[in-house]
Amino acid sequence: MAEELQIEHTSEFYKPSQSVIEQANVKEYDEQYKRSIEDPQAYWAEQAEELEWYKKWDKVLDDSNPPFYKWFTGGKINIIHNAIDRHLTTERKNKLAIIWEGEPGDVRTFTYHALNREVSEMANILKAMGVKKGDIVTIYMPQIPELLFSMLACAKIGAAHSVVYGGFSVEALHDRIDDARSRVLLTADGGYRRGKATRLKEIANGAMKRSPTIEVCITVKRTGGDVKMVEGRDFWYHDLKEMPFAKGKCETEVMDAEDMLFILYTSGTTGKPKGVVHTHGGYAVYTATTLKSVFDLKDTDRWWCAADPGWITGHSYIVYSPFINGATVMLYEGAPAHPFPDRWWGMIEKYGVTVLYTSPTAIRGLMRFGSDWPGRHDLSSLRLLGSVGEPINPEAWRWYYEVIGNKNCPIMDTWWQTETGGFMITPLPITPLKPGSATKPFFGIDTAVVDEVGEQVKPGEEGYLVVKAPWPGMLRTIHGDPDRYKEQYWSAYPDKMWYHVGDAARIDKDGYSWIIGRVDDVLKVSGYRLGTAEVESALVSHPDVAESAVVGLPHELKGNAIHAYAILRAGLQGSDALAKELRTHVRKEMGPIAMPESITFVEELPKTRSGKIMRRVLRAKALGQDVGDVSTLET
Ligand code: WTA
Repeated sequence: MAEELQIEHTSEFYKPSQSVIEQANVKEYDEQYKRSIEDPQAYWAEQAEELEWYKKWDKVLDDSNPPFYKWFTGGKINIIHNAIDRHLTTERKNKLAIIWEGEPGDVRTFTYHALNREVSEMANILKAMGVKKGDIVTIYMPQIPELLFSMLACAKIGAAHSVVYGGFSVEALHDRIDDARSRVLLTADGGYRRGKATRLKEIANGAMKRSPTIEVCITVKRTGGDVKMVEGRDFWYHDLKEMPFAKGKCETEVMDAEDMLFILYTSGTTGKPKGVVHTHGGYAVYTATTLKSVFDLKDTDRWWCAADPGWITGHSYIVYSPFINGATVMLYEGAPAHPFPDRWWGMIEKYGVTVLYTSPTAIRGLMRFGSDWPGRHDLSSLRLLGSVGEPINPEAWRWYYEVIGNKNCPIMDTWWQTETGGFMITPLPITPLKPGSATKPFFGIDTAVVDEVGEQVKPGEEGYLVVKAPWPGMLRTIHGDPDRYKEQYWSAYPDKMWYHVGDAARIDKDGYSWIIGRVDDVLKVSGYRLGTAEVESALVSHPDVAESAVVGLPHELKGNAIHAYAILRAGLQGSDALAKELRTHVRKEMGPIAMPESITFVEELPKTRSGKIMRRVLRAKALGQDVGDVSTLET
């Protein structure tokens, strides 16, 4: 089982203050949780009533063909109607929807009225380019407002989006375009990161060379500078915006609740990334409910989820649910410590941010610069904090709580996954906290920690985390591969239709959940999710490498860091220069987040008799630990 980050047990509770409890949207947990588990459909129907439907559902849950569950069947909805359209006839129309700050310091703001205009123009352009309901549009952009407009525009006209994180590179983008068979790609010339312009269009051009499906590529101008445009395929967004077809109202498409909203590629145990499918209805209900309950969102809030919109955290909690809840969303383009380590703290003060939601890696990264940097700013606008992506170590938790939150802001440590759509195990503002624990399951979420055969383990014992019943925000399938969906998530325990999470966890005597880490070959590096298989395949795409294996080893800032082992082709010798070249090669193919920390040249790799690489053995050796049971090792 994973030995990643060990979080100490603690009996210490941090209790919320009276003022936090008084203003909480949800005032009671135990009773409501009990009711939500006894009758989840009643709970979810009640939540769905908060949204506007073109037509109400006939059935809350259709479980006639598990694990292919359907939610709110017969219902007609569009998430955009709820995120934008319905606000336009209320006071929210002139409220700020987005405050965006670019890394160089430029600022753009959009009211809901303006957001609707921008999204409608983008939607009109997509339609003019032949995009239809059901198509999958690939989006590859920096953190600029147009990234949000693109996603929302696709949803508005009933097309699905597939956002590829702007930090990925040629091969990763090409793989995802191919799997989605996208005809249209939306990108930008670049974005700013640590004072430099990234070269997204250049990478997009490289990917398009390998991906023949793309017929149209629309590029937003952000950084300026030379980019190669191909006649007939490439268009500048600002040119298209001037065309008559871009102007005017764009009707929001009426969708079935179960129609696809987006696919988002995420790393799995083996092979290529899989396209996780989410839908208009259930996802809207789930993300809106969880955000409102967990982060206690109010109309007066300025909400900052400092993730990249290109990952699930951004999809759910920057792009969709905050707008459904009518919040003001803060968005920042660049690096947290640029040009100085108080960039974030300065923006919290400047814009009066009330809730900050980020990752343990970001917190550890900023903590490293010391408390003087946040100390220069008035952070008293903050009332809640949040964490996601990996277990948060108690030291980082305390710094976040004491220095950033001034001991007034409870930390919502939210455990969830790309596949779950939204928060699954999480505190509410009223929950007494233990640093490092994601505390208890959200309403309607039935979790357990079990052993190999599905028996519940004793309190405090480590086991596999499972979810015993479906929920509206769950993935519906893997794009184009329903068998893999069934096999990967629902087949771990014969006779039991349980969702297999892939994480190890324990539940303590107080019923608090402690997530330990992945039990499969998925790595969490700086909170980013990567598959060992993807990095290995990038390595063997180098002509000198015959075979490779990749493991994650603990790292103070990143949580885990990638260490690679490579067998070279016959007759070749390993050297520092070659190691450097291989690291750069992975960076070029996959992106900076996948670049291995170290490369070790080896003659052979430990394998099982059936030929599977035993990464566990490599990891144990690297950590100087006992390699354990190697009886299945090839000899
Ligand atoms: C890990 C991110 C501990 C976990 C939303 C999960 C966490 C994987 C937490 C999903 C947390 C996420 N505490 N571990 N609060 N949140 N994880 O798909 O291993 O990028 O399975 O979704 O991140 O990563 P993903």
